Amino acid sequence: MNESDLNRIKEKISPPGSLLIKGPGALKGTVRVSGSKNAVLPILAATLITDKKCTIRNVPDLTDISIMVELLKILGKKVAREGTVLYIEKEEDTPGVAPYELVRMLRASILVMGALAAGRNSFRVAMPGGCLIGERPIDIHLKGLKKMGAEIKVSGGFVELDASGLKGSVITLDFPSVGATENLAIAACGTTDKTVLENIAVEPEIEELFSFLKSLGAKVKHRGSSVSIKGRSRYGGADFTVMDDRIQAGTYVIAGAVQGSDVRVEFSSPETLDALVEKLIECGCFVDTGSDYIHIRTPERLKSTDIRTSPYPGFPTDLQAPFTALMSCADGVSVVNETVFENRFLHCGELKRMGADIEIKKDFAVVQGVEKLTGAPVAAKDLRGGASLVIAGLLAQGVTRIIETDHIWRGYEDITGNFKKLGAEIWTE
Ligand code: UD1
Repeated sequence: MNESDLNRIKEKISPPGSLLIKGPGALKGTVRVSGSKNAVLPILAATLITDKKCTIRNVPDLTDISIMVELLKILGKKVAREGTVLYIEKEEDTPGVAPYELVRMLRASILVMGALAAGRNSFRVAMPGGCLIGERPIDIHLKGLKKMGAEIKVSGGFVELDASGLKGSVITLDFPSVGATENLAIAACGTTDKTVLENIAVEPEIEELFSFLKSLGAKVKHRGSSVSIKGRSRYGGADFTVMDDRIQAGTYVIAGAVQGSDVRVEFSSPETLDALVEKLIECGCFVDTGSDYIHIRTPERLKSTDIRTSPYPGFPTDLQAPFTALMSCADGVSVVNETVFENRFLHCGELKRMGADIEIKKDFAVVQGVEKLTGAPVAAKDLRGGASLVIAGLLAQGVTRIIETDHIWRGYEDITGNFKKLGAEIWTE
């Protein structure tokens, strides 16, 4: 990838600088969330296993998606976007290299590994490296691919894979990693043997990937924490509508728990947020869940509660930071236990700058609720941490200025417009 290509991509995805919120701000109204980023990313990667046309609907307009689209183009796809629909077709054969510049910007780029392996290619994918929320190794991905017959060498910062000998296998994941489950499921489509994956992650976005693989023609049987997959030599195209984003939805639901709020969040799978809803009810919120919405009302100051993140259907690690922000003004002490990522408390330092009383002890945050936060300049250190600062801004007296917002645009489509719709005083500069 040359310098001008890289600049073109950066220009395309460069959003406004700071996000400002004037609080305190109770929210009122209805918001509808976009399609799910975490479901779309593996589905886009999986389009590489077919030469036929794929139409993917309900695709959010987010920087992470734009980066994955650029990667698909480098790997030989022609991609056109019309509103929320992506049309993806094969354009040319390419050498199969996922460059460091893109993998660095989007860790989920490594999801093309499974798809390139399914094509029985030799290819190179840059190693993603660690990130702020943790070391995030890819050992489970590589161990599984090796077991399926891929030859793997790590050299010069790249994973070099020769998947010409890909075969079916039985693989038990050491941990139900979302990305490894996705990568291995996609790779398993490259052989007509049966592959069984045990101890898989069962996040709803994975179910969505399985449905997409089935719509291309793979045989996928999923039961509990196990899935069996039988591929075929040629795949068809698909016209597929992706689920709505449960993490964006969960963030707006948490914002609806700011004192005095009355918010209805519309999205396709409210049952996926049961663990969150249970906690909000414990805190004293009134929550009504329908087939395509969650309605939350919070007249009084919230009571504190404890949470422990874990793989689905447990409390989502992606909602830990927004929930911690909410607890910073609850009545009493909340203990937040993060078990999925080893360093996902970066937002707590910023919340403390706004007056929160939080003590970190290894993988626990002990939050002593305060009456109110105070607006301050703060930095979004990661995607969900950034969302937590927006919630803190609603809880705070005065103006909160969030910098390093590029993290936020990665995962929240039109966050400013949506919060404005709910009556927040929020703007970009
Ligand atoms: C996905 C989500 C992310 C979410 C996370 C957990 C996408 C694009 N991202 O990330 O939003 O927070 O699931 O729900 O869907 N691990 C290893 N070795 C591996 C793989 C993972 O040790 O080979 C560890 C990670 O370091 C982490 C934990 O397992 O501590 C969970 O990671 P994983 O489930 O793989 O998350 P991602 O797929 O990266």
